[in-house]
Amino acid sequence: MSNSFPTRAWARKQEKGWKITFFRVKTHMFLSEPTTRLVQYFKRHGFRATVVRFGLLVRRFLSFPRMVLFYLDLEDWSPSRCAGDLAASLSVEKKTSQEEIVPGDLQVMLSFWNPELTQRNLCERFARGAIIWLARWDGRLAGYGWTLVGSTVEPYYFPFGGNDVHLFDFLVFPEFRGRGVNPALVAHILNQMSADHRTRAYIEVAEWNQPQLNSLSKTGFRLSGAARKATVFGRTIVEWGSAEIQLAAVMVRVSGKS
Ligand SMILES: CC(C)(COP(=O)(O)OP(=O)(O)OC[C@H]1O[C@@H](n2cnc3c(N)ncnc32)[C@H](O)[C@@H]1OP(=O)(O)O)[C@@H](O)C(=O)NCCC(=O)NCCS
Repeated sequence: MSNSFPTRAWARKQEKGWKITFFRVKTHMFLSEPTTRLVQYFKRHGFRATVVRFGLLVRRFLSFPRMVLFYLDLEDWSPSRCAGDLAASLSVEKKTSQEEIVPGDLQVMLSFWNPELTQRNLCERFARGAIIWLARWDGRLAGYGWTLVGSTVEPYYFPFGGNDVHLFDFLVFPEFRGRGVNPALVAHILNQMSADHRTRAYIEVAEWNQPQLNSLSKTGFRLSGAARKATVFGRTIVEWGSAEIQLAAVMVRVSGKS
């Protein structure tokens, strides 16, 4: 299989559905282990089952949302403070284990979405050494975001440096949205990471998530590119979009000029 897949025509077809201008697609595939596993699967289950399985994997990959990736060099970061009402109302707490989260806050977090999945995430992430940052508005839990230093909970788009930090899974509860809680929380975390002499910070957001794109445009994060990834047979496949064209498209949307 050629590593120039997917073709330009294929990419154009995909882009049409998303109403986004075509941009060149470059694919990095790490094929040796997946190929071996595919051959093993073929030996065990036969031709028909392998074709069905492979088709399923391709369909799954193509259905994954494309993410916009951001980075920030923390050595260049100038610590910022939020101003006025925001500074008066907002406070941030850092928690390194579930036991540190007060029951009322835990209840709010668990009851917002899927309690089982949220509980599993809490256990897995704290076990990996992740930190949750709780944002309070006038004392009430308004939102949160996670960080992990040196690695990511799920396979990332590229290897992480040991001193890099990943910001992920940010949430502001609906009644607190649109007040700048998220950018203030992100800025607080970046201040802390800079003080801890971390090297780079990374965050990513689904291309369709305009509120988060808007929100991140108020932070120091810089756009680096767009990518889609899937983990197949234990190896991560990443499809990169051309940064310049993609960034221009995102910036137009972020600045509201489209
Ligand atoms: C994305 C999110 C974290 C932003 O938090 P926030 O504190 O509202 O961020 P901001 O105050 O900077 O507002 C960002 C955008 O949200 C939108 N927004 C404004 N008021 C809003 C409201 N009442 N309800 C929903 N969205 C609103 C606007 O597009 C705003 O951009 P603008 O200020 O340029 O108009 C929040 O909307 C959220 O939790 N969404 C669901 C989870 C999610 O998508 N998380 C990010 C993935 S990691």
